[in-house]
Amino acid sequence: MCGIIGLTVKKGVLRKKLGTVLKQCLKNLEYRGYDSVGFALISWDGELVVRKSKGKIDDVSRKLGFDDYDGSTGIAHTRWATHGKPNDINAHPHVDCKLKIAVVHNGIIENYQELREELIRKGHVFVSETDTEVVVHLVEEYKKKGMSTYEAFKAAIKKLRGAYALALIDVDEPGKIFFARNTSPLIVGLAKEMKFIASDIPAFLEYTNKVIVLRDGEVGYITPDTVFIEHIDKGRVNISERIKVIDWTPEMAKKAGYPHYMLKEIHEQPLALSSTLAGIGLEAEKLAELIASSKYVYLTGAGTSYHATLIAEYLINNLVGVKATAFIASEYNRYGKTISKGDLLIAVSQSGETIDTLMAVRKAKSKKAVIAAISNVVDSAIPRESDITVYTRAGPEIGVAATKTFTTQVLLLSWIAVKAAELKGEIKSTEALQMYNTLKKIPDIVDSVIKVVEPFSRKISSEVASKSNAYYLGRGLGVPVSMEGALKLKEVAYIHAEAYPAGESKHGPIALVEEGFPVFFTVLDDDNKDLLVANIEEMRARGAWIIVVAPKDFEKVVKLSYFTFKMPKIVFWFEPIPYIVPYQLIAYYTSIIKGYDPDKPRNLAKTVTVE
Ligand code: M6R
Repeated sequence: MCGIIGLTVKKGVLRKKLGTVLKQCLKNLEYRGYDSVGFALISWDGELVVRKSKGKIDDVSRKLGFDDYDGSTGIAHTRWATHGKPNDINAHPHVDCKLKIAVVHNGIIENYQELREELIRKGHVFVSETDTEVVVHLVEEYKKKGMSTYEAFKAAIKKLRGAYALALIDVDEPGKIFFARNTSPLIVGLAKEMKFIASDIPAFLEYTNKVIVLRDGEVGYITPDTVFIEHIDKGRVNISERIKVIDWTPEMAKKAGYPHYMLKEIHEQPLALSSTLAGIGLEAEKLAELIASSKYVYLTGAGTSYHATLIAEYLINNLVGVKATAFIASEYNRYGKTISKGDLLIAVSQSGETIDTLMAVRKAKSKKAVIAAISNVVDSAIPRESDITVYTRAGPEIGVAATKTFTTQVLLLSWIAVKAAELKGEIKSTEALQMYNTLKKIPDIVDSVIKVVEPFSRKISSEVASKSNAYYLGRGLGVPVSMEGALKLKEVAYIHAEAYPAGESKHGPIALVEEGFPVFFTVLDDDNKDLLVANIEEMRARGAWIIVVAPKDFEKVVKLSYFTFKMPKIVFWFEPIPYIVPYQLIAYYTSIIKGYDPDKPRNLAKTVTVE
């Protein structure tokens, strides 16, 4: 939610103007929000320049001429509105009364009303409806008392309650960007004679892959040559111990010739899956041991990551033989009483920053459960607060719709479940070996599935685009696959889609079905196949328009459906991975046919850091 970038640089180091570089870095963060855009920079003459407006980066940049501005130090912001409508005035940066200090913010300042009233009483003039504006006036107020900018910034931070990633510049101290983090992500990027501060690593990957991921409670500042970080209560941080080199290339974060990130990321799945397999090591084995020895396993996540936990829940119950329950992260109070010492919580989050999942982690931790994280972002908040982390290696995912991070999460969790089953003696080593061998083939299987299903998905999408509702049905492991398919269609094609276990139709939902109503059936190669045929028949009898994803030799469904996606035969436990591909592609192409931008679905942001 909201993307922040800041850059401080020595004269002559950049070959482009600072305004252009800020704009380009901001483009890499557009997935975090795109209601309004703005920047503030200190020109080489020491003037503060602020330009901002409602709209997306390219349009706003053309309108306001980002490319015309240069300077030593700048901050910029792409907004996902929380407090105050998305308009020019509420766009960031926000400035103090004397137009000398500017700030950008991601998060929510909970006590902004009381701070605002206090500052108004002291004579400060507020122009926006945002919570952010209090920060800059607070700094101004403390400076009036004779503090340096940094002292004033720290004093302001101590007054704030809530979530924030902040970057602030002041014409009195050109060349410095002051920053603070609490809950919302913030990363320092280190390059020669220039330093960055950003909400996410892809923002500045073109310039550097050397990063420091800031932690909650940390404040500091950057200059072109230095980084200073301290914990607001605990004192100075040793920078050298915290520098990490990220093995993502800028190309990985760009579109590489695809019209959209979502399509690129769907096509990147074979690579993301093989990198994830190659990265499996000791941590994954440790997590398998923890599962095998746990009394009870809880799993949590939001959206797509929750769907991955539902698949893992099924595998842990049915393959490992350990009791497991998955719950939606924002509902973390549901098991507040029962979760206890000896239990394991597996928190799945591609970004590692989703606040709902983080809160669930904190709750389980307070009950003394062991916490394991599955994440795609090294050193992000959820991994840092967990006892153990296993990383997927999907590379940066920019499209708001999760695709490659879903399949890599499921692959990793499947491997861990097989290992846990083997350790617990639920399956023999020979059987486990066969399963590992199948998992190794998954990247190639997904590659061939993409090639085969893409033209059909595109064709079917032209009909899906004319529908306004859809059901996605399955049984067993087919239910979370259906849920993920429905979520994709909703979020990028804006078609209402509902997923539920197919056996439920006759308990209510079938009442909606009439001639032409689309129903997608996920038919895995398990004992549910024949029951699903009966469910398809029920829907057909009511005139439903039926699309099926089924094993290639399951001929029975072909004549009952408008179209059947014929899937390769693999051990059914792992079928969710290839089976989601047609649903991802149908959502993508339907969105395109309807004229939407699948990378930036309305009202959504890639990383949700507000509860
Ligand atoms: O970063 P996370 O995996 O924690 O994100 C969780 C959800 O916000 C995310 O999966 C969301 O549902 C996606 N937009 C779905 O495509």
